[in-house]
Amino acid sequence: MSKRILITGASSGIGAEFALMASEMGHSLVLLARREAMLRELAAQCRDQGAPIAAVVCGDLCSEQTMTEAVRTLRSLPGEPVLINNAGMAEFGDFAATEWEHHQRLIQVNLVGTMCLTHSVLPVMQEHGSGQIVNVLSIAADQVFSGAATYSATKAGLRQFGKCLSAEVRGKGIRVTQLLPGATDTPLWDAQGGSPPREKMLSASNVARGLAYLISLAPDQVIDEVTITPPLGVL
Ligand SMILES: NC(=O)c1ccc[n+]([C@@H]2O[C@H](COP(=O)([O-])OP(=O)(O)OC[C@H]3O[C@@H](n4cnc5c(N)ncnc54)[C@H](OP(=O)(O)O)[C@@H]3O)[C@@H](O)[C@H]2O)c1
Repeated sequence: MSKRILITGASSGIGAEFALMASEMGHSLVLLARREAMLRELAAQCRDQGAPIAAVVCGDLCSEQTMTEAVRTLRSLPGEPVLINNAGMAEFGDFAATEWEHHQRLIQVNLVGTMCLTHSVLPVMQEHGSGQIVNVLSIAADQVFSGAATYSATKAGLRQFGKCLSAEVRGKGIRVTQLLPGATDTPLWDAQGGSPPREKMLSASNVARGLAYLISLAPDQVIDEVTITPPLGVL
């Protein structure tokens, strides 16, 4: 059954890989991120790969205008609504030595923006009578990494949000899953010094395969949480 899938952070990495896979599965897409040229190129590829519709919403996840446009576009499409909360940023380093504005931005994008968008999308799912939400978190939601205090806080906060939300909405046909990937070789690491070896990380397409599996579940199957790690484990 064809779905309508809103993917945040679709312009690169895990989001872009998943958009292409979901297209091959015949789903309609709403692709959200800030970099317009990359999104438009991806949307054209998605249509070539079989997506009946691949709409683009360019803007910051935290902007009210972006959220309104994303929800309006999702509402206009056919199929069961799915929200992939994938957009996120990372900044690793000494907590005290990093300007508070950087911490604030991380919290705003990874946690507040994602929760706010979810709040706006839920009515579309309630109107439809069912829906699915996958929160792309991180093993940092569960494990301790020095230098990742704020990133971990955002992911752990989103994890608890997702679990509580699931308890609220699962009886109404809305399934919520927490996905915790380990280190994944994506542009997220480009600006980070001292990253684990990129060649030992998961590939973005392997994480995207996990997402594709989750959206292929039968309507009466709920997977609450999935952790995917590289072959060597935590890097
Ligand atoms: N890479 C890893 O090791 C790893 C491990 C576990 C979890 N994750 C999580 O996986 C998710 C995807 O990350 P990735 O690894 O694929 O990195 P990525 O390639 O850097 O992708 C991040 C995506 O988020 C979007 N984004 C960031 N800030 C945004 C904002 N303010 N508004 C709208 N979109 C925004 C970016 O698009 P624009 O820049 O175009 O806006 C981009 O499409 C993130 O939530 C990340 O925390 C990553």
